[in-house]
Amino acid sequence: MTLLRLKRSISLAIIAVITASLVQACAWSEAAPASTGSAGARAAATPPMGWNSWNHFGCSVTEDDVMSAARALVDDGLLAAGYRYVNLDDCWQASHRTSTGELTADPLRFPHGIAALSAYVHGLGLKFGLYATPGRYTCGNLYNDYPGRLGSLGQEQTDARTFARWKVDYLKYDWCKADHDGVHAQHAFTLMRGALDDTGRAIVFSIHTVPEVPVSSWRAGTADLWRTTRDIKDDWASMISIARTNLALARFAGPGHWNDPDMLEVGNGGMTEPEYRTHFSLWCMMAAPLLLGNDLGHMDPATLRLVANRAAIAVDQDPLGSQGHVVEQGRSHSVIVKPLADGDVALSITNESASVQAVSLVQGELGLPNVPTRVLDIWTGESRSWTTGPLTTTVMPHDTAMYRLSGASRH
Ligand code: GLA
Repeated sequence: MTLLRLKRSISLAIIAVITASLVQACAWSEAAPASTGSAGARAAATPPMGWNSWNHFGCSVTEDDVMSAARALVDDGLLAAGYRYVNLDDCWQASHRTSTGELTADPLRFPHGIAALSAYVHGLGLKFGLYATPGRYTCGNLYNDYPGRLGSLGQEQTDARTFARWKVDYLKYDWCKADHDGVHAQHAFTLMRGALDDTGRAIVFSIHTVPEVPVSSWRAGTADLWRTTRDIKDDWASMISIARTNLALARFAGPGHWNDPDMLEVGNGGMTEPEYRTHFSLWCMMAAPLLLGNDLGHMDPATLRLVANRAAIAVDQDPLGSQGHVVEQGRSHSVIVKPLADGDVALSITNESASVQAVSLVQGELGLPNVPTRVLDIWTGESRSWTTGPLTTTVMPHDTAMYRLSGASRH
């Protein structure tokens, strides 16, 4: 065991002891949970930002992986940039519930338990998220030979109380063929929403129901965000097709209720740097949740520069909460416009082709609310004036140019 690992184990053991006493103390309040009715209602006023274990670690995730991601968020300045949720996805569970019917952590990969891990994450100033499902099985049970029947069906109140006791701030509640168990989507998600609210803890509620589209009207009143597509893969074709599907759903998104085109693959190695720039730009233009899905403990500088770009993040997190919409879709490139709260407008140009594209945009054809006079290039950081004439730019294959346009009234 290295010195670092030893230190980590000791600190986790201490946290485990402290949390065990807190858990014990909290158990008393469980008998009469406060019912707020809408504890999590505004928990995601802007799209949630953070990290999730699934895209990189899948079913092999360990507590060390999660702790290392949490430390990297802090050490690399990503918490300061807005990334605050550390979400442990599927495969955290032991294959059986406890004798009292509670979910519990896999003892080999999470030897100190989820309460201790959550306390570690909170101790770094971050928030903690977890994964569950409304049917009998999780997707890991169904698709990854993960042992057990670890869904929450019939145990919703117990599981919500367990999550609240562990100080979970974010629950991803994933469909995983729950219809095969006779589960009705609206009923199941409303049930868990109510169970979470009854704990009195503000918990972001992220749901995935199949089919993802059409977006049923109950989702915005029940969940903070909902998946709009099947799982993303770390390749251009998957990412761009997910973006196209999600772009068509712009009208459903707004403050506190977001379309979720799935988590980020940036930095996982399957796309080029321009393709990851496109991925990140499009997610920001779509006001999508920004959940990093790479191994933060081993992130290269280019990836960090990309995901830490404050001007891009500001577009995603803009308080107006407007999802960008397509104003021009050609065979080679697409143009998206996203109005911002201060009257500025974000604009992106994605080159979807395999050749270099020279693009020229005429103000009058963009449907902008006012005449922009300044252009900030979000990826180069250069600012220039836009007087008359078209905005011209050259976009490399599969790359995206992204701008913030400021109107005359502000300069
Ligand atoms: C589904 C979800 C993924 C992930 C896995 C875990 O496939 O869409 O994001 O949570 O389940 O098993």
